[in-house]
Amino acid sequence: MPASQNYEAFFRRSIDDRDAFWAEQAQGVDWHQPYDRVCNYDRPPFARWFEGGLTNLCHNAVDRHLKGRAEQNALIFVSTETNTEKAYSFKELQQEVQRFAAIYQSLGVKKGDRVLIYMPMIAEACFAMLAAVRLGAVHTVVFGGFASHALASRIDDATPTVIVSADAGMRGGKVVPYKHLLDEAIELAGHKPASVVMVNRGLADLAPVAGRDVDYAALREQFLDAQVPCEWVDSTHPSYILYTSGTTGKPKGVQRDTGGYCVALAASMKHIYQGEPGETFFSTSDIGWVVGHSYIIYGPLINGMATIMYEGLPTRPDAGIWWSLVEKYKVSVMFSAPTAARVLKKQDPAYLTQYDLSSLKALFLAGEPLDEPTATWMADAIKKPIIDNYWQTETGWPIMAICNGVEPAPTKFGSPGKAVYGFDVRLIDETTGEEITEPNRKGVIAAEGPLPPGCLQTIWGDDARYVKTYWSSIHGRTMYSTFDWGVKDADGYFFILGRTDDVINVAGHRLGTREIEESISSHPNVAEVAVVGMADQLKGQVAVAFVVLKDASRAADPASAREQEQAIMKTVDEQLGAVARPAMVRFVGTLPKTRSGKLLRRAIQAVCEGRDPGDLTTMDDPAALQQIRDQLA
Ligand code: PRX
Repeated sequence: MPASQNYEAFFRRSIDDRDAFWAEQAQGVDWHQPYDRVCNYDRPPFARWFEGGLTNLCHNAVDRHLKGRAEQNALIFVSTETNTEKAYSFKELQQEVQRFAAIYQSLGVKKGDRVLIYMPMIAEACFAMLAAVRLGAVHTVVFGGFASHALASRIDDATPTVIVSADAGMRGGKVVPYKHLLDEAIELAGHKPASVVMVNRGLADLAPVAGRDVDYAALREQFLDAQVPCEWVDSTHPSYILYTSGTTGKPKGVQRDTGGYCVALAASMKHIYQGEPGETFFSTSDIGWVVGHSYIIYGPLINGMATIMYEGLPTRPDAGIWWSLVEKYKVSVMFSAPTAARVLKKQDPAYLTQYDLSSLKALFLAGEPLDEPTATWMADAIKKPIIDNYWQTETGWPIMAICNGVEPAPTKFGSPGKAVYGFDVRLIDETTGEEITEPNRKGVIAAEGPLPPGCLQTIWGDDARYVKTYWSSIHGRTMYSTFDWGVKDADGYFFILGRTDDVINVAGHRLGTREIEESISSHPNVAEVAVVGMADQLKGQVAVAFVVLKDASRAADPASAREQEQAIMKTVDEQLGAVARPAMVRFVGTLPKTRSGKLLRRAIQAVCEGRDPGDLTTMDDPAALQQIRDQLA
């Protein structure tokens, strides 16, 4: 159906007539029992959406589509690593999810219990997620690229009853074993899960732990005919926890509700992504990240679309692989990250055009800044609209986008578009806390509460941290901070100018520099360390570490410095995972700090990027910055 509304009016209504607006959007999902109140904001900043309503995410993603599209594709699993391709219809998906739910039940999982999922991109990971929410259990998916320490801290925070994992993932033809990392993590963690469900792909050694590890395939056999009904839960019942990085070393468990999330995703499919039921959605992200949650699993399925889960690289067997899937499965909406586009840009553009892309309506890119040359190259190569959209793990769906499903609007290079309906976005002057109303002046991107449905309810187990972190950083006001800088032009288009905090974005992967610093500090030779993000042509940013050694002579010559660098990188690999490994480690005698001992990260970053640190520092110790310059030379 062509869109024919006025976006400005649509947006205003979402803010000024909030409850009526969202009540309309809520008609897009099934309610077992209607809600009493659209938004309870009696206790700011805690918003309770669709209070009193009973629903279930798995019902909305799977069961309700059995009427009318039972035989249509729901999940299409493609691995170019193991050369596997398998499509599941909605009926088959429901069957697999019920089997998984029965396995959970046999292991004692009940409503509200946590299930931790540490899995590669395989169909069973999708079953494990949907089966958890089917029972009203809360899943927490940990990105498969994280190693034992990162996993252990999440196990201790979420205290799962059951962990689901697999023997290994694969990347670029290489097996990436998971099991020993998981065993190590459980060893390190204070909390011990009662059971571990292992999916055996036959790729790596499993070494089951007696009394704890159970075999997925064997259990599945026992529950082939299982019928496990959806547990109707309160709209505000948590559906999942997804850990993300912040300004401390301790990851934050972003807690999402059920009903609000379901409504927000259903609405976004209509107004932003414009996928129709029966079509195919292809998001190239990973289930370990928020894009994977919202737009590999829940968004497309809630909308009655088939979704592709892809394990492999965008360039293997060749750079045409994604586009061959677009042709084969008639993908209508595709979602990826700018880094992937930059990777493809290095390949022959002929790969992108040798397939029939006529089904494709648009390619959405998010997760990091989209540079103009990449956007232009991509648009020219595939001859489809490239639509940038800006959001965060916290929000679960876009804060800024072009809502072509409401009213078609032009894109502007370098801009993810306008504020999305529901988000009362404001730009705030960092020093005065005042709102910036004139165009093109830089400020912190913030939002007035309540945040719309689908955004984080709180930080798991830590309401105080939620309030302190997100709602207390704007002087004298209770406003949500995105911790991103931005400007808005006279037409209402935003431009994102980077983070205000210590979070960095490496190839679209969000990482906390503090977490990396803590890991490096654990190396016995390290006295002090500063990690900053440095601009990188391909990955957007890379992490760079500056280390003060306890014994400087250990890095006195290039060979020993290289040895130390490798030892430090290995520590990060083992504790956090290769995804967090700094691109380089450099050794200095001292780190630049303020008089009160605070690290001058922004100044270090400026030096790394060849910018003038200017007034970022009231330098007591210019020699410290000079050392950093020398190390980079
Ligand atoms: O700094 C912004 C950047 O990524 C951060 C959120 O990352 P994450 O929690 O992993 O969620 C990604 C969801 C797509 C933001 O605070 N970011 C995200 N999208 C964009 C972006 N920066 C510029 N342009 C974008 N489109």
